[in-house]
This record gives sequence, structure tokens and C-alpha cells, in this order.
Amino acid sequence: MANKIKEIIKKLTLEEKVSLCSGSDYWHTKAIDRLGIPSVMVSDGPSGLRKQDVEAENPGVNQSIKAVCFPTAVSLAASFDTEIVQTVGETIGRECQAENVAAVLGPGVNIKRSPLCGRNFEYYSEDPYLAGKMGAAFIRGVQSAGVGTSLKHFCANNQEYRRNSYDSRVDERTLREIYLRAFEIAVRESKPWTVMCAYNLVNGVQMSENKRLLTDILRNEWGFDGLAMSDWGAVRDRVKGIAAGLDLEMPGNCGAYDDLVIEAVRDGELSEKALDICVERVLEFVYRSIENHNAQAAWDKEEDHRIARNIANECIVLLKNDEGVLPIKNDEYVLFIGGFAKNVRFQGGGSSHVNCVNVDSVLYAMQWNTKLRYEEGYSSFDDSVDQRKIKSAIESAKDADKVVIFAGLPDSYESEGYDRKHIDLPQVQNDLIEEIVKVNPHVIVVLQNGSCVTMPWADRVQGIMETYLCGEGIGVATARALYGKVNPSGRLPETFPLRLEDTPSYIDFSGDCQVIDYREGIFTGYRYYTKKKIPVLFPFGHGLSYSKFSYGIMKTDTDSMKDDETVEVTVDVINESDIPGKEVVQLYVEADIPNTGVRRTVRELKAFTKIFLDAHEKKNVSFILDKSAFAYYDVEISDWYVEPGDYKLEICRNAEEVISYRTISVTPKRPKKKIYNENSVYKDLKEDKHAWKIVKPYFDKYIREYLNDQNTDEQAAEAFGADMEIFLADCTIRNAVNMSQGKITRQEMEEILDKLNKQ
Ligand code: BGC
Repeated sequence: MANKIKEIIKKLTLEEKVSLCSGSDYWHTKAIDRLGIPSVMVSDGPSGLRKQDVEAENPGVNQSIKAVCFPTAVSLAASFDTEIVQTVGETIGRECQAENVAAVLGPGVNIKRSPLCGRNFEYYSEDPYLAGKMGAAFIRGVQSAGVGTSLKHFCANNQEYRRNSYDSRVDERTLREIYLRAFEIAVRESKPWTVMCAYNLVNGVQMSENKRLLTDILRNEWGFDGLAMSDWGAVRDRVKGIAAGLDLEMPGNCGAYDDLVIEAVRDGELSEKALDICVERVLEFVYRSIENHNAQAAWDKEEDHRIARNIANECIVLLKNDEGVLPIKNDEYVLFIGGFAKNVRFQGGGSSHVNCVNVDSVLYAMQWNTKLRYEEGYSSFDDSVDQRKIKSAIESAKDADKVVIFAGLPDSYESEGYDRKHIDLPQVQNDLIEEIVKVNPHVIVVLQNGSCVTMPWADRVQGIMETYLCGEGIGVATARALYGKVNPSGRLPETFPLRLEDTPSYIDFSGDCQVIDYREGIFTGYRYYTKKKIPVLFPFGHGLSYSKFSYGIMKTDTDSMKDDETVEVTVDVINESDIPGKEVVQLYVEADIPNTGVRRTVRELKAFTKIFLDAHEKKNVSFILDKSAFAYYDVEISDWYVEPGDYKLEICRNAEEVISYRTISVTPKRPKKKIYNENSVYKDLKEDKHAWKIVKPYFDKYIREYLNDQNTDEQAAEAFGADMEIFLADCTIRNAVNMSQGKITRQEMEEILDKLNKQ
């Protein structure tokens, strides 16, 4: 194929080449009939197929074809189960084959920097490792069906406000460890066919022109070999974009920039070679899709609906279950309150919105139950108050065995295109919950929302279940979890804070700013709360089960390793109960290095797995950790580096609760070469044996001669020497030269630095 494409490129005119680098409309690449080059179609989206039937239609103007809505990314991440995410990918991939779609525009692996981001439901997590693993699994699934994916939105795209023009100012270490990491994991592990650049700027450069990110890092460092396309309308300067490695502009924009690109090539401003590379990648994508297309493929909406339900079972998170209020028994008189039980909220708004065939409401799923009553209480569409409905709900709650209140965020509270203003539920819901707990002690709140919310009533209800936006199977899955037909096994992929003001980016998020400083740095999500010991409502990784799990003593196969080796961690997990269930085993790493000069988080998630345990069953879980579990990104050497020292490997229930740990020491195979300059300080030089050997004679000379000048007696000289140590500790080489009154010359300083850096 490579040769065929090279031959085609030779036959293309300059105009044809340029035209191939933008779409023919909203969803298609261009065809060139003269050379038999076909056009292929791409479609949103990550939680179900959103194929626009009418070619040149913008999202929202016309309905997309009828399709199945799977749990949104936040729900999938809550499963902590890469296999089920892969299954969703495979299913969507099959649907794409049947619908002749060449690539799905997803997954989105952007980090939930703030709970306010309107698109958080479309993103997996606040943790880059979890987000990367989920993204990789989704890509694996879709691409196994011979359909491409578009990993998006690359990168540092973490808010909707001014989304086309804001500039994310992120320091290099934070970029690498947090905002690039999920992309890196997904690219290295699953090789997406395409990557979509984000709308925003990163550190002053528009992403659609960002050569450093699109080419130097994405391709040259991580080995991405697919097509880079723009987010819809993200292009600013197409000439710069092509030079930076942005192959395809979407949508087509009727070739509005083609003349400028042609001119730039003719003037020599843009090399034709750079253009040819983009054309080659567009053609590779087109022919790869054609080669993988299966004209016989078909899909079964009923079957995929069943898959959506079963996947939803895995994503529900049981947050609170006092006195075993859940599961509900079939013979208990139960009252359901809240419009969300009937008009479920199961997906978010914007480009990922699926036109569903078949949505399970919770009430529909509960039709079998004659002991169930329903009161609307409030609508799931807004914050309006209807006193009659409220009174009636309170009245009915009095004599129910248990009350389940369905709460959540109406559609207008979160969506692509705008950010949330706060993280509270509509007031009418909070107020009604407070009223109901006064009349019934057995209250359970079930939540439908795309991102965390505050729960002022959390202490006064017995049960809380987070179902997020769980796709069209949400109703059946919720009913199953409430009545114990399915044992909840999800875990929070994000922290639920007590207050918006506690969140890491609270001060720097959005506002009316064009430039967004990521001042919290690497301390996003639980990395922030654990470091600052800020109490939270529910920590990252939290989730309960109807089973009771316990852990054995964890073991490692070594106590020390070099960073090019691996360590195996094993631990027994035991189901102590009569109820079969699934446990998520979470492994975090904590650097235990005193006096480190490196800013460190408390702990970071480095491995996880979900296992099924029958009643009273015991299973052994094993993880292999390599360098990436210990390394931080060192800006001095522009590389990942493992600081030599002790590391605690911790099996945790969530980001805050350690169950058991072992410490191992890790050393880098090649210690970091220290680079000294005139600002290197005395105490650092002294700590480095080799360096000290070199600089000591000069400092000695300086001190000796200084004392001679002062005619100091021996005793005073000794006392002075001790004081001098303290005084000199933070002294740079440059300071010493400047203060030495000519006793150490600048030339000598150059010699010192030469010697130091040669060691
Ligand atoms: C969104 C993308 C989406 C594209 C096409 C953009 O507005 O940011 O996520 O894939 O539209 O619908």
C-alpha cells in the first residue's frame, strides 16, 4: 500500500494535494475521481454512534441515525474495568463497519482539571493513568473491528469556556505527568489511527499549529504514525498547521485556505515535502479504512442494547450503605421520588449526543414490583418548584419501608460548549431530600450526573448510589443494583469534594480569562487533596459492595531494583461474605524519600484490576511495575527519571485509605548527570563527593585568605569557620567569586565549572 500511495502522490497536482488536506464536508474526506481516490466518513462519538445522515449537516441541526447509547466516559471509567471498555469499543466498531464509518471521533482522554468543566462526562478521570488505560482499551476495541479512532482533544483542553481561544499555560513537568500522560499511554499502547488536536492554545501556541506537540512529542517521541486531524473548526493558520504536522482540516471549509497553502508552497514558505507528508497520511488513513471495510457487516440494535445494559451494571458506584439499607428486598414497600426515575438522564449534550432507539427508565425496569409507588416530587429537566408535588411526595414517604430519591443534574447544567457555574444539585432537590429524611429514616439517594456534585444531606441519608450518565441501559442497571440482582462494583474515577472552593484549580479555573494558568501544577484531583490533607466528601477510587472483601499481606518479589527491572506485587483478596461480587484492587506508589529536592505527590495510582470473587472465595492478584511507576518527569534532563530511594507500594481501598504496603528501594541504572553552573550552591556541591573534591580547594583558599586579611586569631577563625558553613550553604559559585575580593577569579570559576561538568 505504501508504494501505491507514493505513486498516487507523484500523480497529484499541487492543487489536488492541498485539497486532500481538508474534508469535503462535515464528515467526509475528499475524493479525487480522476485518480480513483475514494472518500471516507468519520463520525462521533465515544458513547455511541452519532452518524449524521445528511452529508453537510452540523451537529444539532439534524438528528443523527438511530443508535445505541452506551455509558459515557465517566461511567466507563467508574467500572475500573478495561475489558468492558474494550467491549464497548468492539461494539461501536461493529456498528461503524455496518454503517460504513471509517473512524469514531473519540475517545476523549482529557483530564478533569476542575469539576466545573462542562464536558467532564465525556472524559474519564482526574487521574492520567486511569484515563490513559481506559482510552487505550476503547481504542483497542474499536480498532479490532477494523475501524479507526480519533484520540482527542490533544491536549490541555480542560474547560469549555472560551474553548476556541484560551491559552493553557502549563509547566513542562505538569504537562508531561498530567495532561500528556493519558495521551501517551493510549498512543503507545493502542496506536490510534488518528489523533484530534484541541481548539485551544498551549503555552502560547495554537494546538492546530503546535509542532512541538503534534510532531516532536506525539510522533517523534511516542511513535504515533497515524493521521492528525483538527477538531471541528480549530484551524487558524493552515500553512503553519501543515508545517507543524496537522494533516487534515475538519470540516472542509470549502477549501477556504487552499489558495494560501498553494501560494506558500510556490513562494517556498512551505516545503512541498511537508505537504506531501500530510497528503500521504490522509491517503494512508483512507486506504486503511477501505482495506478494512467489511461490506457484509451488520448490527443488531437489540443485541447492542443488551450490551449497553450489561455494561451499565459494571459502572454503578455504591457510595454509602449504612446499616445495609441496600439492597432493597422484594417484599419491602418502597417509594421512588424524583423525575429522574421516569425521565432518566443518561447521556450528555453536544457532539457525543446519541439519537437513542430504546431507553430504559428506572420505572419501566421496576414494572414487576407491585410494592413500589412513585412520586415525581420535581422534574428532571429544571429547578422548578411545584409545591403540590412536593407535599404529596413528603406525605407518601411517611409510611414507606424505604424511600429512594432520584436526583441529578438537568441537561442544561452540564454540556459540551459551556462550563458549570457551581457543583450543586438544583435547590429543589436538596430541599426535598432534607424534608424526606425528616419523615423517613431509610432514605437512599440515586444520582444521575456527569460530574461530581455536593451533597449537603450526605450524613442524613442511609444510602447513596452514583449512576453517573450510564447510557440507555441505566434504568435496568439501576433497578438491578438497588434490588441486589447485580452487586455494585464501580469506583469513583474522580474526587467528590465537600465544596467547590476546595478544588485544586478553584482560583485559576476559567473566570473571564483568556490565559489560564495551571498553577496547581501536578497537584490535580486526589494528588491535591491528599497532599494538603483537605477532607473530601468521597475520595477518588471509593466504592462499596454488597460483599465484604479482605486482603492478605501483600508481597513483592524483590526489596530493591534498578529502574530497568520490574517488581511483581502479589496480594490475596478474600470475599468474606455469602454474596458473590467484584472487587477493584488498586495499587498506588508513594515516594518515601526524605529531603528530596523534587516536589512529590503523596501517592499515585500505578495499577488496578477488577476481579470476580464467589462467596468466600480467595484469589491471588498480581501486578508488575516498571520504571513508569516510580519516575517523575525531570525538566533538567528532559526525560523521565527515577530518583534513587525508597518507594512504598500500597494496596489501597481508595486514594486515601492504605490497606497494606511494602517498601522497596529503586535506583536508576544511569544516575542523573548533574549539571553545574554558576548558580549551583555550596550545599549541593558539598553533597556530591566528586564535585566537592573539585571545588573544596577554591573555597578553602577563599576562606583562608579572607581570614588572613582579617588578622583573625585561631579561636576566632575556628568559630568563623562554623558560622561560615551556615552562611555559605546557599551561596552560589558566582556569589563566592563576587564576594571574594579577587581571591577567586572569574577565569577560575570557568575552570571549576569545566571540571565539574566533565566528571
Ligand atoms: C468537538 C469534538 C467533535 C467534533 C465533531 C467538536 O465540536 O469538540 O469532540 O468530535 O465537534 O462533532
